[in-house]
Amino acid sequence: MKILVTGGAGYIGSHTVLELLSHGHDVEVLDNFDNSSAESIRRVEKLAGRTVRVHELDLRDEPAVTALFAAGGYDSVIHFAGLKAVGESVAKPLAYYGNNLESTLVLLRAMAASDTRQLVFSSSATVYGDHAPVPYQEDHEPLGANNPYGWTKVMIEQVLRDVAASDSSWRIGILRYFNPVGAHESGEIGEDPSGIPNNLTPYIAQVAVGRRESLTVFGDDYDTPDGTPLRDYIHVLDLASGHVAALEHLAAMEGGARAWNLGTGHGSSVLEVIAAFEKATGVKVPYTVGPRRSGDLTESFGDPTRAEAELGWKATRSIDDMLTDLWRWQSQNAEGFGG
Ligand code: NAD
Ligand code: UD1
Repeated sequence: MKILVTGGAGYIGSHTVLELLSHGHDVEVLDNFDNSSAESIRRVEKLAGRTVRVHELDLRDEPAVTALFAAGGYDSVIHFAGLKAVGESVAKPLAYYGNNLESTLVLLRAMAASDTRQLVFSSSATVYGDHAPVPYQEDHEPLGANNPYGWTKVMIEQVLRDVAASDSSWRIGILRYFNPVGAHESGEIGEDPSGIPNNLTPYIAQVAVGRRESLTVFGDDYDTPDGTPLRDYIHVLDLASGHVAALEHLAAMEGGARAWNLGTGHGSSVLEVIAAFEKATGVKVPYTVGPRRSGDLTESFGDPTRAEAELGWKATRSIDDMLTDLWRWQSQNAEGFGG
């Protein structure tokens, strides 16, 4: 298949591009490098022993994107491009609605105009909102969110369902990721957050490598076994293989939009993650307990049985694998791709 990957230079995108190449697909990347660097793709090319054509474009540039599709001959698109920092989205809602919604609409119009109607979209467990019972089921309604970033995912999912309902030649996979962690086992590519990391495991890794002094655990008074919140951490390589499985499923699917949870079905607490990191790496992570972070849920984990039954996909890597691979990436690249 010839596949255009939007946001392919980013964290999940770069691992997925590598996985697609290793399955023999022909891959091109569209990215504006707003939150990534071309170095990630150079390393993917080195690992795969193949070249990847990169289109340095903003997805909101409709004339350029339309021209790209008119000439591209793509069979399918994986759409990772978007802004993803929850706190920033609260401070800059228009930037988030603007980037995430506009770029998706431009993409869909360019795809329709060039008769490319197979799409995999990066959604998030955040669409289950605050009140869904765990483990989350894909059919849960109503979807919702508690910040502008999350609402962009809810809204884009709705757009995709409406587009698929309007024309049965669209085949759309909506992948709801849980918490991606880890890196490729080579240590050559991984997550390289700009500024202070928002997410737990990049923060732990930066403390361990000496870039930050200590971790703050955001509250230990939750109603969980050790008082810290539970999350469904999933290895980024398992996520990457979920995209390949989704593409193969879509190619044989009749038409429509369908959502799949990509998670392990199991929640780990913050203190368990810290302990697992220390055990996997032998490196101590100093931490203090602080107040709760606003908007944090007590627990979030999904039921992955639909993905297993329909895509033939299951997460196989353990939390120890995730943290060992994370540490290999971080210790070999203390400053990320810029180092
Ligand atoms: P990332 O920031 O590393 O990758 C996103 C990429 O999109 C970046 O390379 C960025 O430069 C590019 N981009 C952003 N806006 C663009 C635009 N207008 N035009 C072209 N390129 C643009 O993020 P990631 O962690 O790899 O996440 C990928 C997708 O998965 C995002 O849509 C994100 O919302 C979603 N997601 C991520 C997580 C997570 O925890 N990482 C969880 C659930 C869902
Ligand atoms: C966060 C986002 C969520 C998004 C997800 C993507 C918020 C409120 N939620 O969720 O919308 O879909 O990332 O992966 O930002 N923690 C600490 N100290 C830290 C960082 C995190 O204790 O320095 C704790 C958090 O309280 C949480 C757990 O670690 O309990 C995981 O946090 P994080 O990695 O940010 O993921 P989510 O909370 O699931």
